[in-house]
Amino acid sequence: MGSWGILGWGLLLLRGVCGAAGEPHSLRYFHTAMTDPGSGMPWFVDVGYVDGEIFVHYNSTARKVVPRTEWMKAPGAVDPEYWERSTRIAQSNERVYRVSLGTLQERFNHSGGSHTVQRKIGCDILEDGTTRGYHQVAYDGRDFIAFDKDTKTFTATVPEAVLTKRRWEDDGSVAERFKHYLEETCVEWLRTYMERGKAELERREPPEVRVWGKKADGILTLSCRAHGFYPRPIDVSWMKDGVAQNQDTQSGGIAPNSDGTYHTLVTIDARPEDWDKYQCRVEHASLQQPGFYSWEPSQPNLVPIVVGVIVAIVAIAIVGGVGFIIYRSHAGKKGKGYNIAPAQDGGSNSSGTGSDRPVI
Ligand SMILES: *[C@@H]1O[C@H](CO)[C@@H](O)[C@H](O)[C@H]1NC(C)=O
Ligand SMILES: *[C@@H]1O[C@H](CO)[C@@H](O)[C@H](O)[C@H]1NC(C)=O
Repeated sequence: MGSWGILGWGLLLLRGVCGAAGEPHSLRYFHTAMTDPGSGMPWFVDVGYVDGEIFVHYNSTARKVVPRTEWMKAPGAVDPEYWERSTRIAQSNERVYRVSLGTLQERFNHSGGSHTVQRKIGCDILEDGTTRGYHQVAYDGRDFIAFDKDTKTFTATVPEAVLTKRRWEDDGSVAERFKHYLEETCVEWLRTYMERGKAELERREPPEVRVWGKKADGILTLSCRAHGFYPRPIDVSWMKDGVAQNQDTQSGGIAPNSDGTYHTLVTIDARPEDWDKYQCRVEHASLQQPGFYSWEPSQPNLVPIVVGVIVAIVAIAIVGGVGFIIYRSHAGKKGKGYNIAPAQDGGSNSSGTGSDRPVI
């Protein structure tokens, strides 16, 4: 628990993909209510994801549930009342969050400022056909209360949540409804969406991965860029001597391309002399097994030197116009210079295979 970013969800989904007979699928709803959303931004947003892809969206400005994928827009994808019904539920949620935000601020003695309530609700169908369900609430980015559908109990993660836990457990119908939603309704809808969106959701585009290094102020920044992949969930990490370095990596997140695929960039700072100990590991639904990529500092370009030698030889042959002996002696000297060149640059060359650092 604890990862309330969208990326964290994607990774959660991916775990266990490899070596599986079937692929796991997930349906998630992510609600966010904010006291201070920023000017012009909706204070309440409700987003639905199938397999990590946004497929429906609602916000407190438009107050309407709208499709976000082509397959959800297709005529007959869902029953005619679907949009109206979903909109009614979302509007009612919006009212609940208005109240919850107030309650939580009171409980935490927060009289003002910027506060956020988030809720993730969802279910997974795993490779072996079993299902899993979640219902978790966070306040200001930290876990607040979570539902355990098997025991039909709630876990209060902070003291301020104990009152909520008691209330929800005293009213037995709350747990009953949550359990039914997670085990039945959610799973049924996930199967429906999987069927409707089959063509789009089963699209697989493997990432193109590029690794490069750049040295500045005695620090080597290694970058690993995965480009053009689909679906969105991906796990890109830096390994040093085979050990994941999750603490030290930085990522700007996963961003969409105009063709519906995604890209991401993950960097790590290293000691320049350790450059060859690092590997970028990429795990994605399109790959049979995780891919490993290392930085190959570009070799000093030999072509100009070789050309130089040939030109010199030809020049000598023509200009000198003399014998075989002079020609050989010059070629020999040039040959030495050519051998020295690679040693000067060696492995610490930090210009890399690409000096640009794409901004995300
Ligand atoms: C709110 O929803 C509408 C569509 O319902 C969308 O056009 C708009 O971009 C959304 N606003 C934000 C900030 O996402
Ligand atoms: C909030 O304030 C009340 C009364 O001032 C106090 O009893 C309570 O412990 C405070 N709660 C927190 C979380 O600080």
